[in-house]
Amino acid sequence: MCQNAGARGAKVAVTDVDDASGEAVAADIRRAGGAAIYLHQDVTDEARWLEVVGAVEKRHGRLDVTVANAGIAIRSAIIDMTLAAWRRQQAVNLEGVFLSVKHAVPAMRRAGGGSLVVMSSLAGLRGAAGLAGYCATKGGVRLFAKAAAIEHAEYNIHVNSVHPGIIDTDIWRKMVPAADAVRRNEPTDIHALSRTFVPLARTGEAQNVADGALFLASAASDYMTGAELVMDGGMFGGGMRRQG
Ligand SMILES: NC(=O)c1ccc[n+]([C@@H]2O[C@H](COP(=O)([O-])OP(=O)(O)OC[C@H]3O[C@@H](n4cnc5c(N)ncnc54)[C@H](O)[C@@H]3O)[C@@H](O)[C@H]2O)c1
Repeated sequence: MCQNAGARGAKVAVTDVDDASGEAVAADIRRAGGAAIYLHQDVTDEARWLEVVGAVEKRHGRLDVTVANAGIAIRSAIIDMTLAAWRRQQAVNLEGVFLSVKHAVPAMRRAGGGSLVVMSSLAGLRGAAGLAGYCATKGGVRLFAKAAAIEHAEYNIHVNSVHPGIIDTDIWRKMVPAADAVRRNEPTDIHALSRTFVPLARTGEAQNVADGALFLASAASDYMTGAELVMDGGMFGGGMRRQG
């Protein structure tokens, strides 16, 4: 995502709690001839949002685009889910998005407009067993984005949500397989899942989602706000593929 923006000439500030990965992304952008810095940021920390937005404005004079991408997924049946696990997902996935909009908007108003891209999920459009806590956060992101779009349209600030399906990233490797899926003998490997459930019969790549985010960040989506960009190989629109 950040690499895409860097390649198109954006001056990028990459933020994460994982300093090694974040530094590596910023270094990749610079190696490719783009401009990028890395800043440590926990998206649940409101004071840090003020510092990060301030640092970007000080360095570049303005903030035009924010992609609220940080997210975690904790797999658990509802009756087994701890309140701490529920609250942790709310804090990162939903409160992090709220704070991104709250603190980016004043800078975008100073810049005369901007684009906020917030990461929801297919799980923000439909339910998934074992992911109720995650679904609740991503459904919240979806409607928060629509309200934010209406609230900030008069300032030429666009707010749109992205809804990826099964994308090959580390989030899947950090999640333990759902016990009930194992019991039902359903595939737990994401590529096997994709062959079974995705109409295009393949797993998405991070680049697919990056392309969508770049579109929403660019003038090509100038007449879009409060909209949902679904990037899921056809699962939502086309229903689930079932082989064999
Ligand atoms: N991979 C998929 O299939 C998929 C599908 C739908 C939606 N999404 C969403 O896409 C977004 C990106 O996830 P990903 O798939 O690249 O997973 P990922 O685990 O590779 O990336 C998530 C990133 O968020 C960072 N992060 C976690 N907690 C943070 C915090 N408190 N503050 C700052 N950064 C934090 C992690 O360090 C990591 O770099 C997430 O919002 C996720 O929910 C992913």
